Amino acid sequence: MTSLSELKAQILSLTREYSRQAHGSFRPADDPLRRPWAEGTPIPYAGRVFTDDEVEAAVSTTLDFWLTLGVEGTAMEKELAAFLGVRHSLLVNSGSSANLIAISALTSPKLTKERRIRPGDEVITVAAGFPTTVAPIVQVGAVPVFIDADPITGNARCEQLEAAYQQGKTKAVMMAHALGNPFDLATTLAFCRKYDLWLVEDNCDALGCSYSMPRELAESLGFTENSPGLDDGPDRVIRWTGTWGDISTQSFYPPHHLTMGEGGAVNIVRDQKLRVVAESFRDWGRDCWCPSGIDNTCNKRFGWQLGELPEGYDHKYTYSHLGYNLKPLDIQAAIGRVQLKRLPEFIEARKRNWEILRRGLAPHDAFLEFSLPTHATGWDAQSGFRWDDSGCRTDCSWFGFKIATRPGAPVTRTELACELDRNQIGNRMLFGGNLLRQPAFVQLREDNPEALRVIGTMEGADEIMNSTLFLGTYPGMTEGMLHAQVQVISSFLQQ
Ligand SMILES: Cc1ncc(COP(=O)(O)O)c(C=O)c1O
Repeated sequence: MTSLSELKAQILSLTREYSRQAHGSFRPADDPLRRPWAEGTPIPYAGRVFTDDEVEAAVSTTLDFWLTLGVEGTAMEKELAAFLGVRHSLLVNSGSSANLIAISALTSPKLTKERRIRPGDEVITVAAGFPTTVAPIVQVGAVPVFIDADPITGNARCEQLEAAYQQGKTKAVMMAHALGNPFDLATTLAFCRKYDLWLVEDNCDALGCSYSMPRELAESLGFTENSPGLDDGPDRVIRWTGTWGDISTQSFYPPHHLTMGEGGAVNIVRDQKLRVVAESFRDWGRDCWCPSGIDNTCNKRFGWQLGELPEGYDHKYTYSHLGYNLKPLDIQAAIGRVQLKRLPEFIEARKRNWEILRRGLAPHDAFLEFSLPTHATGWDAQSGFRWDDSGCRTDCSWFGFKIATRPGAPVTRTELACELDRNQIGNRMLFGGNLLRQPAFVQLREDNPEALRVIGTMEGADEIMNSTLFLGTYPGMTEGMLHAQVQVISSFLQQ
């Protein structure tokens, strides 16, 4: 009789063979087995990039059929945390869930009274971007305070942070590194330190982006060490985005830097207490921290007295928060672990693809406005980026290639998007544009004018909404696909 391990080996060998034959067009662009892109066929802006390794991992864990988060989940949490150099990474079922957990964690009564976010407290955020960076602020009963976004970087205008601050009310800043472009962390961190505020980095679009500052500045903000694998010389400190604030979040939905299908993570940068609290919110709000299927890691399962429960009530069924269940499956984690090994090459591919599009579209500078990394003041084909004199630098692993049509351009943004659609070229808006104009936020304000606060006019966010789109930079994009996009845009502008 065939043994179980032999049976499994046969299934996995066939699985690999199936995947090689079926999924050739999903392999990384530079993989020798990548099925070539055929001219005239669709060019997605993003998508899953995988080989038989991911499919084998998925089938193997499916055969084991543990299902719920287990050894693969624990291993991926450790590996992601080690890659970033953070205290802990907590796997969740989406980036939106990660944001919900991150802000919920800051409401915990286990935190100090002064810093805990209470209903009616304020959290500063940015008007342009993805809705579930902001919705969780409202969902925990806090008030989002919107500052404007800069149309060139796509990021918050951090010089408005001071105007948004209200003593006794402001408790945190929570915003995203837009499309893989780090926001101005030096200004934001100085602001957070000045008023003792939490910083939540929505790093969903920016895994593998880094930010570097002069050592003296970094040390004044409390940072002495580089992230693992990063080095920008002895006089500077360089760290991944997602490791500067208190908590950060990742999305592992297919267009993001790595995928587990649906999925995400909450990164706890330093504070062990935040880890315990975030885990509690993910896992039903329970006080107990035992992994699934394991009991009594605290050694006093029946030795607690919490709330108004009788002494010795089972710790496993003691709830210190109004929590959720936002865990992914172990099968997803198995896929994610393989993807994590590809992350360094994925990060570089996104940079390369951005550069190819930038060079290809450079002749259209008069009609198109291109994104600049935060702290860059310009770009040219010979010497690359020029930087402002803050001494800070950003290194973007771009989520997308953002372009805006200039006022004098012969076409509008929407006409350009339609032309790209006609040519089956994937393109996207910068998510919700000015979120304040989205029906959900209009309704929120109509129902309760105090539910949010807006600082100044939102000209930048409106401009992003009216004249911006982005193309893909994902690691499945071949040079042929990139050049085809350049050609379509060039011909359209030259008509
Ligand atoms: C900045 C940002 N935050 C959060 C999310 C939500 O992630 P998910 O789709 O995994 O819920 C996204 C989604 O693309 C995003 O772009």
